[in-house]
Amino acid sequence: MDRSKNWRDRTKITHAGNRPFDNHGVVNPPVYHASTILYRTVAELRMKEQAPFDHVTYGRTGTPTTFAFEEAVAALEGADRAIALPSGLAAIAGSLFSFLKAGDHVLMADTTYGPTRKLCDNQLAKLGITTTYYDPMIGAGIADLIQPNTRVIYLESPGSHTFEVQDVPAMAEVARARGCVTMIDNTWASPLYFKPLDFGVDLSIHAATKYIVGHSDVMMGVVSMRNAHWKTVKTQVHAMGYSVGPDDCYMALRGLRTLGARMAQHEKSALKIAEWLQRRPEVERVLHPALPGTPGHEIFKRDFKGSSGLFSVILKPCSQHQLAAMLDGLELFGMGYSWGGYESLIVPSAIEKSRTAKPWKTDGPMLRIHAGLEDPDDLIADLEEGFSRLRSNLSGESAAQ
Ligand SMILES: Cc1ncc(COP(=O)(O)O)c(C=O)c1O
Repeated sequence: MDRSKNWRDRTKITHAGNRPFDNHGVVNPPVYHASTILYRTVAELRMKEQAPFDHVTYGRTGTPTTFAFEEAVAALEGADRAIALPSGLAAIAGSLFSFLKAGDHVLMADTTYGPTRKLCDNQLAKLGITTTYYDPMIGAGIADLIQPNTRVIYLESPGSHTFEVQDVPAMAEVARARGCVTMIDNTWASPLYFKPLDFGVDLSIHAATKYIVGHSDVMMGVVSMRNAHWKTVKTQVHAMGYSVGPDDCYMALRGLRTLGARMAQHEKSALKIAEWLQRRPEVERVLHPALPGTPGHEIFKRDFKGSSGLFSVILKPCSQHQLAAMLDGLELFGMGYSWGGYESLIVPSAIEKSRTAKPWKTDGPMLRIHAGLEDPDDLIADLEEGFSRLRSNLSGESAAQ
């Protein structure tokens, strides 16, 4: 009897996709470096050509290393199948192109990741596919924006700068009734803390680059779905030439094995830092789905199993000079894009430039913080010193931004 379907998440994280006794008892799946795959007979070649994605047929369609990673992610997402892609953005592009054709229309969350917006505004637009951005808090009201040619409703919950949590089940229900495909960028929650397919979403997309890989050293994406959509997506991404290197797949699977332990610490540290920030006089507002006051907090409590390490803080107005004094001297928080690795990060956010459906404006600067796996008290001390530099650097430009 296959008991793996009943495994709890921590068990799936540890064992899904591994078959040690297919490989001399070695715990982790081997890394298959492959382009050419040999066939013993013409009959075998013909048979595998008929169903190229069901076998190892050519390096680009995947090897047992790829399949082990995909199987593990699908198990965690509660999906039938998953497809590995060379970056999170490739997973987004591959998913959109799988269901859209010239003349179609997409409904896109206004909070979406910047390059997803660029993809819609440039590459999709060039093909005659139109996009309407919607207020992420629209919920079932999305029904009013559906046009006869709306094919895809795309969600990102929470938005990765402003953290609005979307009413996913309400939107998925409307989409299903109107014949639209739903896809969600689920990167923030990781496959552990939110299960989009359980809420009626068709495709769950991850920038595996973030929490799944977890060590800031691999670019990868993955999309999970039920069997009904798998062939469509696999055929499309294969036609586009997407392929993931075996070493990267191995690293991503290795990262996934510790996801549970890492996420628990990211969650704890981020909450501790966020709550400390809420009490600081320099802070206007903290945006974290697990804290009351962030739009969609009640939905978060209803639908999510936990929170991750990424959140934002809006400071009271200060000068660029003060902000730079704070950020430039931080010792533990690195300044850089991406997130989900073991290390803490902080970046100024300029999200107001890209919002169109629901303009976003703050008086003071907004910072996006990723709480890494350091001791949170050391991280707080680093920020505290940053705030004292901010306060003591009143010279230089004085205009509030
Ligand atoms: C929410 C979100 N989705 C997707 C991506 C894209 O992932 P990748 O950088 O692996 O292409 C990112 C990257 O920052 C992201 O923040």
